[in-house]
Amino acid sequence: MQPIDNELPSHFADRLGTLYTSLVNQEHKKENGQFFTPLEIAKLMGSFTEFQHSSVRILDPGCGTAILTCALVEYLTVNSKLQLIELVVYETDNALIPLSKKSIAYLKNWLKSKKIDFRYSLLTKDFILENAKYLSENGNLFSEKVEPFDIIISNPPYFKLPIDDKRAIAAKDVVNGHPNIYAIFMAVSAKLLKLNGELIFITPRSYASGSYFKLFREFFFKIIEIDNVHLFVSRKDTFNRDKVLQETVIIKGKRKEKANPNHSVVISSSQGLRDIHTPETKTIKQKILIDLASNEKILYLPTNDFEESILNIFKKWDGNLNKYHIQISTGPVVAFRNKQYIHEDFQNGTVFLAPLFWLHNVKQMILEWPISKPDKGQYVRIENESKTILIPNKNYVFLRRFSSKDDKNRLIAAPYFCNVIKSEYIGIENKVNYIYRPKGQLDRNEVIGLCALLNSALFNSYFRIFNGNVNVSATELRDIALPPLATIKEIGNNIILSNNFSIENTNRVVIEQFELTANLYE
Ligand SMILES: C[S@@+](CC[C@H](N)C(=O)[O-])C[C@H]1O[C@@H](n2cnc3c(N)ncnc32)[C@H](O)[C@@H]1O
Repeated sequence: MQPIDNELPSHFADRLGTLYTSLVNQEHKKENGQFFTPLEIAKLMGSFTEFQHSSVRILDPGCGTAILTCALVEYLTVNSKLQLIELVVYETDNALIPLSKKSIAYLKNWLKSKKIDFRYSLLTKDFILENAKYLSENGNLFSEKVEPFDIIISNPPYFKLPIDDKRAIAAKDVVNGHPNIYAIFMAVSAKLLKLNGELIFITPRSYASGSYFKLFREFFFKIIEIDNVHLFVSRKDTFNRDKVLQETVIIKGKRKEKANPNHSVVISSSQGLRDIHTPETKTIKQKILIDLASNEKILYLPTNDFEESILNIFKKWDGNLNKYHIQISTGPVVAFRNKQYIHEDFQNGTVFLAPLFWLHNVKQMILEWPISKPDKGQYVRIENESKTILIPNKNYVFLRRFSSKDDKNRLIAAPYFCNVIKSEYIGIENKVNYIYRPKGQLDRNEVIGLCALLNSALFNSYFRIFNGNVNVSATELRDIALPPLATIKEIGNNIILSNNFSIENTNRVVIEQFELTANLYE
């Protein structure tokens, strides 16, 4: 494949990428975390730079066909007085490297015609293994030969690394659990920047919350001052060429000794590619987005005034489950391991059976049981050996641990009252979480109040502000801010008095309780 006359380097890189994508199979792409950036997104990312000097050092780790470098350089040639570019790129896929070379060679020629000097090195080594040493406090970049960079632009690979992967071990100071490789790319890059150097990354949004990324957030946002965030709200639209179902985010920030919490951040958002040039924008202080003194250090990304007002409501609440002596746990019945105790049908007399609740029994504000489904027996046998997987029959809130991508709500919670079933124990399958008061009992109004809150549009909107995932974990729920317990009970009482447990009514009660705007009815 050859460049067309007067073709822009980024367009040529895009064609090379499309060609490569058509040649390799899905498996190969997955293994290498290989999803190329669409041209329009590469251009948007390039346009985030504010760099103005005449010589620049750029790094593009995991460069693919170097589309990001090309788009950035094209932007710089128009918007700065560039005379010299030093570029370092990393790429590990041997089959792709000839195309990386081809693209960069064309960029060099194109720059020559503009009388801009261009030097580059294409390193075919693992970016993390080469540079992870700079992550540790003693890894002093400035004492080594590596010269730090003015701009680092990247669409890093994304896949989870096993705990014992060399790269995960090398990055243990900044990531824990099963880290995703993209976060290590971001962390290492933050260290390779000059002071005031710029970092422009496109990644999944999952680093914004969750315990696996907590260390990362602490490390990264201490030294990176955010200038821009662009959020792609639709999971389906962004990388449509490669069918990646991820909520994606671009972040652009500058390396600082210590990020200024009062720095203004511009958050823009589009559904996907089609409306990328007409984004909704909002300016907000960094300290509203992330509070490094907080326990979870969540990165909130409100995209409009309405979402900011929701964030403010939650920030005013200082209650949580723990404070109210309430706990959340995961259902202990693991279907494939406990098969021998699970029954499809009720058998009277010969054995003692407890109800077994599965994910499909849990609906918004209602527990539907029994619902017969193949391999999802609705009963579990009570005997000495099975007692360890059963829980006492008390009042609970049941929550689905997994929602499907098409679910409008992230949280689906149903009330359970012990008096509806005559049994000493009940069984809860592993894909369901349950909320309970270990010492004592949840009152009826607490169960209904909590259920109504968790299912409400208010909580759903709040989760969307910090969680790009479709699921909300028990850890996140343990930490979530709640209104005073008296308010939760009041919501419960109002619903019980109305005797209308439909989701429309419970949502209305929540909205009225907090005097929220009609936006939440949508
Ligand atoms: C998500 S793709 C993005 C490619 C390109 N930057 C773009 O925006 O289209 C990530 C690239 O990183 C490469 N890669 C994967 N692991 C790497 C590693 N450890 N070091 C360097 N490159 C890596 C992959 O082969 C892939 O080409």
